[in-house]
This record gives sequence, structure tokens and C-alpha cells, in this order.
Amino acid sequence: MDGIARISSFFLLSVLLQSSLNSSLGSAQSIISAGKMATAGKVIKCRAAVAWEPDQPVVIEEIEVAPPQASEVRIKIVATSVCHSDLYHLLQSMHKDGFPTVLGHEGAGIVESVGSGVTEFQPGDKVIPLFLCQCKECRFCKSPRTNQCERAWTRVRQEIMAGVESRFTCKGKRVHQFMGTSTFSEYTVINQIAVTKIDPAAPLDKVCLLGCGICTGYGAAVNTAKVEPGSTCAVFGLGAVGLAAVMGCKAAGAKRIIAIDINPDKAEKAKVLGATDFVNPKDHNKPIHEVIAGMTNGGVDFSLECVGNVEVMLSALESSMEAWGVSVIVGWTDMYDISIRPRHLICGRTWKGSMFGGFKGKDGVAEMVKAYLEKKVRLDEFITHNMTLDQINDAIELMKNCKCIRAVMTVSPQ
Ligand SMILES: NC(=O)c1ccc[n+]([C@@H]2O[C@H](COP(=O)([O-])OP(=O)(O)OC[C@H]3O[C@@H](n4cnc5c(N)ncnc54)[C@H](O)[C@@H]3O)[C@@H](O)[C@H]2O)c1
Ligand SMILES: [Zn+2]
Ligand SMILES: [Zn+2]
Repeated sequence: MDGIARISSFFLLSVLLQSSLNSSLGSAQSIISAGKMATAGKVIKCRAAVAWEPDQPVVIEEIEVAPPQASEVRIKIVATSVCHSDLYHLLQSMHKDGFPTVLGHEGAGIVESVGSGVTEFQPGDKVIPLFLCQCKECRFCKSPRTNQCERAWTRVRQEIMAGVESRFTCKGKRVHQFMGTSTFSEYTVINQIAVTKIDPAAPLDKVCLLGCGICTGYGAAVNTAKVEPGSTCAVFGLGAVGLAAVMGCKAAGAKRIIAIDINPDKAEKAKVLGATDFVNPKDHNKPIHEVIAGMTNGGVDFSLECVGNVEVMLSALESSMEAWGVSVIVGWTDMYDISIRPRHLICGRTWKGSMFGGFKGKDGVAEMVKAYLEKKVRLDEFITHNMTLDQINDAIELMKNCKCIRAVMTVSPQ
């Protein structure tokens, strides 16, 4: 009897313990879900780096982020990095109508809340914002010939590098959402067509790089140039975009990859990612396309310009084999024209441009996250600095002075 009494009191105790555990878990869960819901539907006040005017340091401010409207998703940004296109808007194009703005388009975060009609995302999902959306319904999205989408902000107000709408205000002023994303903010609101859900196992402080630079360079080699096994390639400019292009050429099976940069510090990383040769144009007293032609018996099969300089775009074109070379413009500028003699193309060269590496936004980023998790593409090698959003001006300076490949900033705790 004693034994049975002991067993039943053990059961009673474990039932009691279990039920008290359940009730405390239950209350913890309701606190968590109450926490999730606490901000849903309300304006969030949070910190963001506001670029008030061109060519000035950005300022960490408290901004108001409106709740997501129909088809929109509000995202807590966890990590972000600086791409040269952020610097282009801040320091080069300096289009006054594009300010004040919150820069940043290479980021990753967690869905905080969703607007009406959103079924693809739920609070808690890990996501990457897309500067190039994919609505999956327009004639562009339905065509395999392009990764553009007819609903993209780029088709409306290209010069201010932002869409017409914004959910941000600061000190009573409306603030643009740069490239529709604005990842230099603790929270942002984006239409669901410009967000992609990613594998929950993905580390956000690494895969944030897939929001722009790495997909751009890698895809420019693989999707746009369509580099072939056994071919020769030349990559001009070895920032994250160019280094990712080197990685793409290698993945496509190129036998010779010539990496070109005026900064000799870039040589080592280029070799780690697959370059077979490094050329510094400053070491030569003849045009770089003549140097490349001399190294390759007339020119490379594929060349990629990843600088954003029209002179280099011409050099890249002329470095490709006259009879069949394919040259791809990846670097961004909207400030200068290019002119060439038609014969450079008539004899057989193809000149192409590549936006976001030819990847369709949602599909491409999710595919590249998977490739990273399967160790088929590298990201860690691109991260030279880890910082916080407070150090944003230091990160911009590093980029401006070519002292980093990518500086990843923690924006919010996960
Ligand atoms: N097409 C797209 O979708 C897309 C997307 C992202 C970035 N971009 C553009 O790609 C370019 C590269 O971006 P990033 O973030 O890698 O920039 P980055 O500043 O990190 O790298 C640029 C590299 O080019 C080198 N360089 C400068 N002048 C050169 C010259 N004359 N010859 C050879 N190398 C030279 C620099 O030393 C540097 O290493 C930028 O123009 C950026 O705006 C385009
Ligand atoms: Zn579309
Ligand atoms: Zn970019």
C-alpha cells in the first residue's frame, strides 16, 4: 500500500508540476504573443540613420514607422551592410529631391507584423528585403528574359532612388525609403512583393549580404554573362560585387580568372575566391585592355565591370575577345554617357548590363540562402568588419576609402 501511495503521490506531484509548468508556459506564451501584438497596428518609434542632406554624415534619429498597410510587411532589421550604391546616392549623385532618406538595402530581419491581405508572411518569419521586387504577376515577372518587375520603384522615380510612398517620418518631415528598403533602421515597412522569406536556419548577420552585392556579382557571371566551363574571364573592381563575380566565374568552371583593381590589397582575397591572376592597372604604362589582350592571346571570353566608372566599362569591353567576347556592365552610374566606335561590337562582341545579377528577387535570394547553407557559395570571407548601427558613419568612411569589403552592422537584437 505504501508503495502504491508513493507511486500515486509521485504521479500527483508530476501532474501538478506538469500543469503548473504548462500554465507558466501558457502565460509566457501569452506574454510573448502579447509582446508581438503589442506593437502591431501601432506606430513604432525607433532608431534609424537619417541622411538629411547629400555629402553629410548621417544622423542617428528617432523616427516614426507607420503600421503596414494592405499588402505590406513591417520588419525588424537585425543586420545590414553598406553597399557602394548607398555611397553613390549620398556622395556622388547627390540628387537633392532624394533627401532626407534612410539608406541601406543589404539587410535581413524578422517580420514584426503584416498588413491586411498578407498571407505569405507571419510575425517571426526570417526575411530579406529586396530592392528589386518580384510580383510574379506582371509580364516582366512572367518572362524568363528579365528579372525586372513592372511594379518596381525603379520604374517610377529612378533619380531619387526611392519609391513615391514612405512609411517613415522624423521631426515632422516625411523621410524617403531608399531603394524601397531602408535597412539602416530598426524597423522598416515594405510591400510583400519586395520581401523574401528565408530558411529559419540562416544566420541573419551573414545572409544580409545576399540582399545586394553578392547576388549581384555572382549572378552577373552565372546568369548574365553565362560564363562557360574552360573559359577565360576578367573582373574589373574587387569590392564585394567584383569578388562575388570572381566566385561566380569559378563556380561556372572558368579556367582563368584575371582580377583587376587599382588597390593591391584586394589581390589576396580575389585569389581566395578563385582568381588565377591579379593585375593592377597602375603597374602598367599601357592601356589595361592591351595588357589583358597580351595575357590572353587577344582578349578574354567574358569580362565584367564592377566599378561604376564609364572608362573602366570601355576597358572591360575592349578587353573581351573581339570575335566573340561578352562584356557585362555591373557597376552603377547614371551620371555619364559612353560612346564607342561601332566596330567594337560589329565584329562579334556582345555588351550587356546586369541588375541584381539577373536574379528574380524573391526566387533568387531564397536560392542563394540555400546555396550558402549548403556551402556552395561563400559569404563569411566578404565580411571584414562587424559593427553596430551607431557606427554607421565609420562604416561609410571605410567603404569610401576602400578599407573594407563589407562592414556588417548589428541593428537590433534577434
Ligand atoms: N548592377 C547592380 O545591380 C548593382 C548592385 C550593387 C552594386 N552595384 C554597383 O557595383 C559597383 C561595385 O560595388 P561594390 O559595393 O563592390 O563597391 P566597392 O567600392 O566596394 O568596390 C569597388 C572596387 O573598384 C575598385 N576600382 C576603383 N577604380 C578602379 C579602376 N579604375 N580599375 C579597377 N578597379 C577600380 C576599387 O578599388 C574597389 O576595390 C558600384 O558601382 C555599385 O554601385 C551595382
Ligand atoms: Zn512583376
Ligand atoms: Zn547594392
